[in-house]
Amino acid sequence: MTPTVLIADLHRYEGQTVTVRGWLYDRTDKGKLQFLKVRDGSGIAQAVAFQKELPEATFEVLRSLSQESSLIITGTVRADKRAPGYPGGYEIGISDAQVIQIADEYPITPKEHGVEFLMDHRHLWVRSSRQWAILRIRATVINTIRNWLDDNGYLLVDTPIITPAAGESTTELFEITYFEDKAYLAQTGQLYNEANMMSFGKVYCFGPTFRSEKSKTRRHLTEFWMVEPEMAFFSLEDLMDMEEQFISAIVGRVLEKHRMELDILERDTTFLERVSAPFPRISYDEAVARLNKLAAETADPEQQAALRIEWGNDFGSPHETALTQQFDRPVFVYHYPTAVKAFYMQPVADRPEVCRSVDLLAPEGYGEITGGSERIYDRDLIEQRIAHIGINRENYAWYLDLRRFGSVPHAGFGLGVERTVAWLCGLPHIRETIPYPRMLKRMYP
Ligand code: 4AD
Ligand code: MG
Repeated sequence: MTPTVLIADLHRYEGQTVTVRGWLYDRTDKGKLQFLKVRDGSGIAQAVAFQKELPEATFEVLRSLSQESSLIITGTVRADKRAPGYPGGYEIGISDAQVIQIADEYPITPKEHGVEFLMDHRHLWVRSSRQWAILRIRATVINTIRNWLDDNGYLLVDTPIITPAAGESTTELFEITYFEDKAYLAQTGQLYNEANMMSFGKVYCFGPTFRSEKSKTRRHLTEFWMVEPEMAFFSLEDLMDMEEQFISAIVGRVLEKHRMELDILERDTTFLERVSAPFPRISYDEAVARLNKLAAETADPEQQAALRIEWGNDFGSPHETALTQQFDRPVFVYHYPTAVKAFYMQPVADRPEVCRSVDLLAPEGYGEITGGSERIYDRDLIEQRIAHIGINRENYAWYLDLRRFGSVPHAGFGLGVERTVAWLCGLPHIRETIPYPRMLKRMYP
């Protein structure tokens, strides 16, 4: 019996006859020779059909096959360093072929297409090698997140997606009708994480989160995946120590496992190789000073206006980009103004206008990939904050209970999967990091 094998495993079958099942990615016609690029999900391999070695009918069918036609081929595996493909280095000399379906004219051809066209054909675009590489890296990022947390004493405790109240800012909520009531799609699992943390010590939730942000930037999705660890008795410093280990593990695993995919993406990995603890840590004050210094040193007035920042304002993309370009690895920015951050963040004891928050900014201009803080654990203070921002106390009664029954200092953060993947893959836009992106102007397909 001829074994049916994966293209990724061809190296194990040198000299043997094997069967491969997949799709025709590309084809070069050299008359008596047909070079077929076949993909099977695990990789792409060159398969060679030689007129003399095949029945006339089989050769002619192969010769007429359209792009993305599905087929099963059988042939001998030959080592050839120059054989193209992923992983490459092996090709198949076809001895038999069976066509499953001849594809209609495929809309995505090797020529250049516009982004909107490709996005409209996202259900087909995911077959292209670039997208294939990105989504394989995404899967490893998710897998490493889970493994690292599971191996380091964190328990996965799921949090709800349908929620009665805001978790972050009340301006970015997707409202839904929940029978007779209003409900919202979760922006974060954090508040529930805090309840779960009191039971398990170190927990994480990991799921899709939703923001009806009207931002049309290269960093924003309306539906994105976030992992959120939450730890009892953690300080801001503990949080940063943990984050740098966690991020380094994710980057390390991607580098170790995905050289081929990073090659497909033509990703220069110089900066990724440098990712190891400790990461630089600067205060918001210092970040503001650095930005204003950069602005002062710039001759271009437009650049100057984009960089200049008044103390108290949140950073925009140009600020984050400029800041991260000053460092060769991810950088922590801590102690943001309390006014620009969420209600639950612990104010600094002798300087309540700033809070015990920390964002991690990825290098090479990628910007914020994690956001977190110490949480307010004093019952009076959290009551005050809730009253101050004017959210409905009733909806948060359960959350306030957490400050009544054995409240402890604690901290946590959220890491956006798509921003992380965009950084690791070196992508100019977040839309390619998730199979079916949801954005301000897109929810098809
Ligand atoms: O900074 P954010 O809003 O933090 C929270 O939601 C906290 N409750 C997390 C926590 O402390 N448990 O979001 C966290 C991360 C950001 O750093 C970013 O990576 C990602 O989530 N993120 C987005 N990614 C894509 N599109 C958006 N619209 C995003 N908003 C946030
Ligand atoms: Mg944030």
